[in-house]
Formats: sequence, structure tokens, C-alpha cells
Amino acid sequence: MMTTKTTQNGAIGLAIDDAKIATLTLQHASGANKVDGAFGAALNEAVTWLGQQKNLSGVIIASAHKDWSVGADLEMLYKARDAAAFFENVRQLQQVYRALETCGAPVAAALTGSALGGGFELALSCHYRVALADGRIKLGLPEVLLGVIPGAGGTQRLPRLLGFQAAADIILQGKSLRPDKAKAAGLVHELKDSAEAVIAACREWIKANPKATQPWDAKGFKFPAPRPGSEQARDMLLVGAAMLHKKTAGAYRAPEAAIRAVAEGAHLDFDRALEVEARHFVKLVVGDQSKDMMRALWFHKNAADKQQDLPKTDTADFTKIGMLGAGMMGAAIAWSCAERGYQVVLKDIKQESLDAGYAHCKALTETRCKHLDQAQRDQILARITPTLELGKLEGCDLIIEAVFEDPELKRRVIEETQGLLAANGVWASNTSALPISDQAKAAKDPQRFIGLHFFSPVEKMPLLEIIAGEKTDDETIARCLNFCKRIKKTPIVVGDGYGFYTTRVFFSFILEGAQLIIDGQPPALIEWAARAAGMPVGPLQVFDEITLSLVTHALPQAKKYVGDRLPQQACEMVEKMVAEGRAGRAAGAGFYDYKSGRRDGLWSKLAAFASGSAATKTTEEIGERLLLAQAVEAVRCVEDGVIKRYRDADVGGIFGVGFAPNRGGPLSYLDRLGIDNAVQKLEALAKTCGPRFTPPKLLVEMAKSGRRFYDAV
Ligand code: NAI
Repeated sequence: MMTTKTTQNGAIGLAIDDAKIATLTLQHASGANKVDGAFGAALNEAVTWLGQQKNLSGVIIASAHKDWSVGADLEMLYKARDAAAFFENVRQLQQVYRALETCGAPVAAALTGSALGGGFELALSCHYRVALADGRIKLGLPEVLLGVIPGAGGTQRLPRLLGFQAAADIILQGKSLRPDKAKAAGLVHELKDSAEAVIAACREWIKANPKATQPWDAKGFKFPAPRPGSEQARDMLLVGAAMLHKKTAGAYRAPEAAIRAVAEGAHLDFDRALEVEARHFVKLVVGDQSKDMMRALWFHKNAADKQQDLPKTDTADFTKIGMLGAGMMGAAIAWSCAERGYQVVLKDIKQESLDAGYAHCKALTETRCKHLDQAQRDQILARITPTLELGKLEGCDLIIEAVFEDPELKRRVIEETQGLLAANGVWASNTSALPISDQAKAAKDPQRFIGLHFFSPVEKMPLLEIIAGEKTDDETIARCLNFCKRIKKTPIVVGDGYGFYTTRVFFSFILEGAQLIIDGQPPALIEWAARAAGMPVGPLQVFDEITLSLVTHALPQAKKYVGDRLPQQACEMVEKMVAEGRAGRAAGAGFYDYKSGRRDGLWSKLAAFASGSAATKTTEEIGERLLLAQAVEAVRCVEDGVIKRYRDADVGGIFGVGFAPNRGGPLSYLDRLGIDNAVQKLEALAKTCGPRFTPPKLLVEMAKSGRRFYDAV
């Protein structure tokens, strides 16, 4: 007979059968098994209940929901500021997990869904893990991606299970693995094809292993080599810390704390080691960086993905898409649409460009669809029709243009193709800067004309900047949002104006990098300072990647629209470099030298562009100037009405431009500096560097009235 009941708060179901195997069923009332106060209390009660069962032969932890456990309740983490109180909660949870693994009976995790973060740490506290072999399931410890570390034993159990190297590889990169990879990495013991088979495998294992304990609780446990304290372990940790610093330039607290928790804990007995982990974890949770990262990378990113507060429509999705231009962007956009099931007509005016574009689509299918069989890959390519004929565009319900960035050419292709659109079809431009309302003047139906700004490489970059022109209607925006969802991009919906949002912020960053050279700062320091401030790549390196000529081509338009706000000398320097054949990586020379396509150090003659000798600046000052140059432009976009939702500034900044994720985006950064403080810094920079730093009225008013962009936490 199976006896069943639940814990008092209902978060865990408790059952025991005739074979004395208990099943704890995770069934959090919210519909997702979060690790929060209710879960902690329920697990505590469940473990006490296990202790009362006579002749218990084993325990299975199962889930009633789609996921096994999604990990910590982020609302709770986000709000936590009281270190002492939070530390108590963390220690209690650690102790309950510990009590589970030392309950005296074998405990198996029936991973029929994803187990992440604190959820996966619960699985690690089980003696055995069986997972459902389903490619949608993810298992792992993604904590560092949101500025924290595993805090329920993950930094202690994983190294004792896999060794330093393999554990650090997962924890420091915040990895989540599919079941097959998780099995290969040693994170789970068995894979099964159905939920029933997972449970059955747990039962069999329990019957065969009545005396199971965790390896670290077994007599004579030896830490997997290299042993803590050994020369190899010290070398490995030192090299690991150095590699981390090279990668993050010291801008990220969480992976550094993770290395320390792993290294320090390895020398201690298990219970002390958990306490050390808790101290590192709590410090990160109550600190500023994790708040800023969670706000932008979790709450705002999710709101954008769910398209909260954005126009909706029930109109049927597009079916046939016309892509004008089979160049770098056009080919990749066409492929991304075909991969998601759309029929695509890929149109160019040159056979070579078309061939190259189609070859790129083929290459993308090979590299990105390894999980599909040949027939499925063929289907993707079969959905793309490359052509030189305009007539093939007949009946498209969406045409996206990605021809050269030339207003006159864009006008021509609009006139040439709009008559081929299906009734109510939408016409979109992938321009990176030209105002949509200006282009829409050539359109018969400006209400169905829109900007769809993709980022390169399209197949990897998660963002889609959707630009509404003056006359674009909500129905068109909504239809494009449905398209955006289907091609799995994160949308920001912005207003019109030269460079919209992302291009304006991005140009501010790279041109400020060039201007710093003219101001006499050492190029290597500029690059490092940007990264130490949290930018993933330095401005000179990015400049080379996107090519200096892309910027010089854009400058005449940019000057027309933004004039005196461009750093004049930087623009002249870039123009000179292009004239000298140093147009960037593709040209084999730019701010960097290149050998066989690889960066080979900064160009030794850059310093010759410096005018006068600048006062030496610290890394922090240079980094701050690079961030403020972008943040002040973001505020201008708010002021201009280009940014309509603050979240778009931060999500677009991070995912489109690479604005320092550790700062939570440009507006979060200003809040963190303090608006008043930011205004003062900008005023000082405006005096020495020019009007591009003049604090916008909006910011000055916010400083006066004590307003912020987001509520303080
Ligand atoms: P590209 O130079 O690689 O490709 C342009 C293609 O358009 C060429 O294949 C050309 O033959 C074709 N073309 C020219 N006239 C045409 C016509 N009348 N009909 C059909 N095809 C025609 O340029 P890329 O880099 O793909 O850029 C295209 C557009 O996307 C530009 O407006 C650019 O500003 C924008 N963009 C570029 C990004 C980048 O990172 N390169 C990022 C986002 C937007």
C-alpha cells in the first residue's frame, strides 16, 4: 500500500510504498519547482519524515512539474540585502541538503526535467542521478551568469565528484548540459528514454545499493587527482585564476569567488567547506553586481522575450519572405528564416554574390544543424530560393532589405519591389542607421514599413532591434514581433532617428576608443580599461572587426544627423587609416596588425596620432569614460523618444552592443553611479572632452529631483 500525503505547505508530496521506498515529489504551488523559503521548509519536513520511517530502504526524488527544479527563486535573491539573515537561510538549506545525503538510506534523483542551480545542487546531494534522455532538458550550474555562485553545496560536491578541472569548467562558465553531455561529463549516472523508466531505474539502483553513501562521506575518500595541496593542484588553481583574469579582466566577481570557494573548501572537512561557500555566496548575493546583472539579464531579458507591454495581433504569421541582398547580412538572415520554417526568396543583382550567399547558407546548415539528419538539413536549404529575378518575389508577405547602406539605392529597391508584396505585406529595412521614416517616404504604405535591424553574425546574435517609423502601425509591429518570436530573437522596439538606439550607443563606444588615442592614452591601456570596466571586447578590436570603412561610409550621414556630437579628430583619424589601407581585420590591417588573419599586436604607429601629451589617466578613469560615452547617448535616446521602455536600453545595450553586462546595461550603470554623481562626472568630461558628454536635461532633472531609472534594491 502506498501512503501519500504532502508537507504542510504542499510543496513536496510524501509517499512510501510496501518496499519501503519513499518518494518525495517536488510540486511547488507556483507551477515551477523553485528553491525558496517554502521549498526549504518543505524539504526540512520531508527529511524529518524520512527519519521517522521504519526500515526505510531508499528515497526517490521526483517532480510533478515539467522541470525537476529550476533553482533559486530569483525574486528572493534579487531583494536580499541583509547579509546576516540571508546567511542563516543559506546555511539552513545547506544543512537540509546535507541531512538528505546522510539520512542513512540510498537517495536517487529521478531527473525527468531540467535541474538547474540550487535544483541541480539538490540532485548532487542525492547518491544517484538518473536523467530522461530528452534534448530539451538542461542540467547544470548557471549561477555565475547572473553574478552569483552555487550556494547549496555545488562548489564543494562537484570538485569532490569530478576533480578541480572538470568542476571549475562547469562552475566558472555557468554551464548547463544536455543529458547526453551531462552523462559523458559524469554529472549523471544513467539515462533512460521515458519518465517511467527513469523511476524504475532509480528503484533498481536503490534495491542494489542499500548502503549507498556519498563518496566524500565514505571511509578513505580521496579527492580526485590532483589532490588539494599538491603541487599540481596549486599550479592548476594558479593557472586557472590567471586565465580567468585574462578572460574577464577582473570585471566579474562571481567566477573569482567560485575559484576561491572551490580552492578553500577543498582543504576543509565537508561541513566547514559548506560554510566557506555560503560566505562567498552571500557576499555576492547582497552585493551590487549581482543585482544589476539579475535585473538586466534575467528580469528585463525575460520581459523582452515575453514581449511584455508590446503590441499583439492574431493575424496569421508571414509565410513567404523576400530577402533583398545576399551579402553578409542578407544570406544569414535568409538562412535564419529558412531554419525556422519560412519560405525565403533570396534575391541579389550579382550571380557571384548570390552564389556566395547560398554557399554561406549551406555552411550554416552544416555547422549549426549537426543535430538534424540529412533530409532535415536538405529541407532547410530547399526552403531558400536564390534568384536574380525580381518576379520571384511576387506574393511575399514580408520583404527584408539588406542591400548596401546607400539611401538612394534603398529608395530604388523599395519602389522596385513593393508592388510585388502580397496584400497587407510588410516591407522592412535592415539598415543599421538610416531613419525609417525617411525611407518610408518612398513606400506606398508607410504604415506597413518598418526597421528590422539584425546584428552580425545573425545566427548567433540574440537581439532584433525593431524600429517603428512615424507612420508604422501597431499591427505591423505586432506581426514583426510574432516573426521575431519564431526566429527566436529577443526584441527591443524603439523609435526612429539616425542610428536608432544600438548604432548610436555602439558608435559612441568605438569612436571614444579612437579619440582616447588622440588624447594620448596608450592603445593597450584603452583596450584593457574597456574590458576591466566590463566590456567583452576593447573598442579598437571591435572597430577592426566591423571594419573602419563601415564607419567612414556612414560618417557623411552621421555628420548630417548628429553633427557636433561626433568626436571630430577620431573621425579624421579613422578616415586617414582607411585611406592608408588600414580598414580593419578584413583588410589585414587596422588598429591591430594581422598575420594570417590573426591579431598580431596593436599597430605600433598609433601613438603618432596623439595630439599633445595627455595627463596620465588610470585604468578606472579610462574605463569610466568609455562607459559614460555610451550611457550618455543612451539617455539622449530616452530623451529623444527612441527608447520607450528603460528595459530596452539595457537589454539592447548588452545584447546588441555588448555594453558591460556586469553593470546591467547603461541605465542600470547610471543608477548605480548615482544620477547626481553621474551628472557631475559628465560635466567634468564635457569640459575636457567636448559637448558629446554634456549631461542631457533629463539626467540633470532626475538628479535634482532625486529620481532614478529603476527602484533601488
Ligand atoms: P554586403 O555588402 O555584404 O551585401 C550587400 C549585398 O546587396 C551585395 O551582395 C549586393 O550585391 C547586394 N545588392 C546591391 N544592390 C542590390 C539590389 N538592387 N537588389 C538586391 N541586392 C543588391 O552588405 P551587408 O554587410 O550585408 O549589409 C547590408 C545592409 O545591412 C546594410 O544596410 C548595412 O548597413 C546593414 N547592416 C549591416 C550589418 C553588418 O554588421 N554588416 C549589421 C546590421 C545591418
